[in-house]
Amino acid sequence: MQKGILRKKTIAKILHDTKEGYGDGEHASLNKVLNVRDLTMMGIAAVIGAGIFSTIGQASFNGGPGVSILFVITAVTCGFSALCYAEFASRIPVSGSAYTYAYASFGELVAWIIGWDLLMEYAIGNIAVAISWSGYFVNLLHGFNIHLPAYVTMDYFSAYKASQQIADLTASGSSLESLSTNTKYAAEAWTTAPSVGGIKLIADFPALLIVLIITSLVYIGIRETKKATNAMVVLKICVVIAVIVIGFFYVTPANWHPFLPNGFSGMMKGVSGVFFAYIGFDAISTTAEECENPQKDLPRGMIYSLIICTVLYILVAIVLTGMVNYSELAVSDPLAFVFERVGLNKISYVISISAVIATASVLLIFQMGQPRIWMSMSRDGLLPKAFSRIHPKYKTPSFATVVTGFVVAIPALFMNLTEVTDLTSIGTLFAFVLVCSGVLLLPKDTELNDGKKRFKMPYINGKFIVPILLIVGLIFFYQDLLNVFDFNQSWEVIRERLPLYLFLILLIVITYFSFRRNLSLIPVLGLLSCSYLMTELGYTNWLRFLIWLVIGLVIYFTYSYKNSKLNI
Ligand code: ALA
Repeated sequence: MQKGILRKKTIAKILHDTKEGYGDGEHASLNKVLNVRDLTMMGIAAVIGAGIFSTIGQASFNGGPGVSILFVITAVTCGFSALCYAEFASRIPVSGSAYTYAYASFGELVAWIIGWDLLMEYAIGNIAVAISWSGYFVNLLHGFNIHLPAYVTMDYFSAYKASQQIADLTASGSSLESLSTNTKYAAEAWTTAPSVGGIKLIADFPALLIVLIITSLVYIGIRETKKATNAMVVLKICVVIAVIVIGFFYVTPANWHPFLPNGFSGMMKGVSGVFFAYIGFDAISTTAEECENPQKDLPRGMIYSLIICTVLYILVAIVLTGMVNYSELAVSDPLAFVFERVGLNKISYVISISAVIATASVLLIFQMGQPRIWMSMSRDGLLPKAFSRIHPKYKTPSFATVVTGFVVAIPALFMNLTEVTDLTSIGTLFAFVLVCSGVLLLPKDTELNDGKKRFKMPYINGKFIVPILLIVGLIFFYQDLLNVFDFNQSWEVIRERLPLYLFLILLIVITYFSFRRNLSLIPVLGLLSCSYLMTELGYTNWLRFLIWLVIGLVIYFTYSYKNSKLNI
């Protein structure tokens, strides 16, 4: 058993399996049409979305103008991971992304865990994006004086919570004046919804609709996906640049003081929202089999898109917190809000339209990435064969695409935004941790000798640098560490620190191995920085994430382990 779960696929086998199409006639190969420009566009398409149009608001409210530093920290963290992804993508240019990389470096069980985790990143991430899309879309319709019944535009629990809030206020005789428009709208959904057998019929139909439309596009073909993506990306980059340039003239420098109103910890509260904004550059690695020259172009596409988005994000954060005081930014549509606030209502409206387009393009890329991971897992026997079926005409993973559509569309009808965002962030950070560790463990036989030029991650010896960084960190955070080890606290306080304790153990182990084995610095820093960001996501998210992993393990041991191609 132990040998079974650690069995690895060699690069030769991975590439052979991909080329041979499994010899059963069902699996034709995919269309190779993507170049570096398309990949960069796709990267940007996947990255710029609900994060910068929505979650940045709450992060700025918590962190103040200093949230721009968090954008830099997160970008550096993502940069290390992007280099590791790039290293893998150039060595193993097949569709499974981190899942396939882990199969070559860690063996089957970890590969399964990461594949399962990536499904969470894309599926739950897309549920979040679909819900956020629906919010903007409904606002936009209001602008055109089209009013859908509130109960077909949101999830059940948001409506229920709002109605409870109003009931409590009414019971205590308080005024309803202080309630936000969103809360009043959600409460309206509750009171006006029809019921069947005492159950209110409330669901987010625009979210369902957009997922079905996007899924159909992805089903029809990669070429169509590419065209739609390119058009959407150009538009959203123009809008983000316009926000920066026009917004710059409305900055009041006094808003930048104090820079960190709630200190370092306030800034770090925004980790989930800010990291969510960066998620997506990794998704393009799932298109490896559709690239003209994946070894060279995929790494470049990932890195270029990350650099472009980072620059735009930092500038947006600076302008946003300069236009309006940070304390006003806890809204779901911060970019539109600040322009409305300074009296530029028309621009605010254009931003809302762009948000609808921007979030749709994120959906498109994630909806495309997901079935390609199902497909890779199915090719290896870890999921049923139907998931790797390629459509004879459209050349896309047809069955997996349809399943993906339902897996995202149905929960999008009922789920709540904040929780799905947090879960996506923790799942993605975990995937990054495994990819960075995978680079450290990558066996030499994963070198592809096909004479093609490929990306190579620079090797910097971490032998002395990592221990020195550890010592500097200990000196710098000495006081904070003393507080962390103060156990005279309630269980509620201690349990929030559990992830941090795990991180500290990991830090010591990695420092030791860096010294002993001359580990490469970039993946080590990637591994440590992503793990650290995970510690900021709180006990409840960790718990939910672990439950997701346990469900995955049950499926692995009851189905995948027995059906794995490596079992034959
Ligand atoms: N980065 C993507 C977004 O912000 C997930 O929508």
